[in-house]
Amino acid sequence: MTGEVKIAPSILSANLAKLGEEVRAIDAAGCDYIHVDVMDGHFVPNLTFGPPIIQCIRPHTDKPFDVHLMINPALPYLKDYAEAGADIITVHAEADKHLDRSLQLIRSLGKKAGVSLNPNTPETLLEYVLDKVDLILVMSVNPGFGGQKFIMTQLEKIQRIRNMIGDRPIELEVDGGLSSETAASVVKAGADVLVAGSAVFNSDDYATAIGALRNAIS
Ligand code: DX5
Ligand code: ZN
Repeated sequence: MTGEVKIAPSILSANLAKLGEEVRAIDAAGCDYIHVDVMDGHFVPNLTFGPPIIQCIRPHTDKPFDVHLMINPALPYLKDYAEAGADIITVHAEADKHLDRSLQLIRSLGKKAGVSLNPNTPETLLEYVLDKVDLILVMSVNPGFGGQKFIMTQLEKIQRIRNMIGDRPIELEVDGGLSSETAASVVKAGADVLVAGSAVFNSDDYATAIGALRNAIS
């Protein structure tokens, strides 16, 4: 583990009519990262944010932008996301043919490189890129939408990846279906960054919702 467990609210579940305000609110509520779900209507069946929106919300917080690219291809757009204000850029292992090249490009842009796996993708795909990643993102739902049910089989994958990481300084993030009920088992399996969309934004009080997640894992 790289330290304290971090909470990364996903703005996919925010009120998009007042996105800047929502970002300020989760910052004030004590989040660690701002998780930005980028969808292309092709790799996943939904469309969300592009670089101009990320650029617009960038001045609203100093917290790191954890940009999860659910787009294929990702490689031609990495520079745009870096320039828009991303701090961590995560690509899907199932997307670009040349994962190694994408990861190298992200680091060469001065950003942290992340790789994400869909629920049906085996962790063995990570074997030869482990020294080129700063973050591994395990999808615990099929990507595309917030508010889905946590897929339990991913707990074993999280444990296996935690063992693969060993003492490398790689963060292990889990995304999808996380709540006070599921967070503890995910952390026990080895996760150290938790993405939470509906668990935070469906609450009337974001600080209480983030606090409930922290309590569940303490
Ligand atoms: C799904 C996204 C997730 C999602 C999480 O494709 O990557 O970040 O917003 O939402 P919840 O926490 O509601 O499952
Ligand atoms: Zn995500």
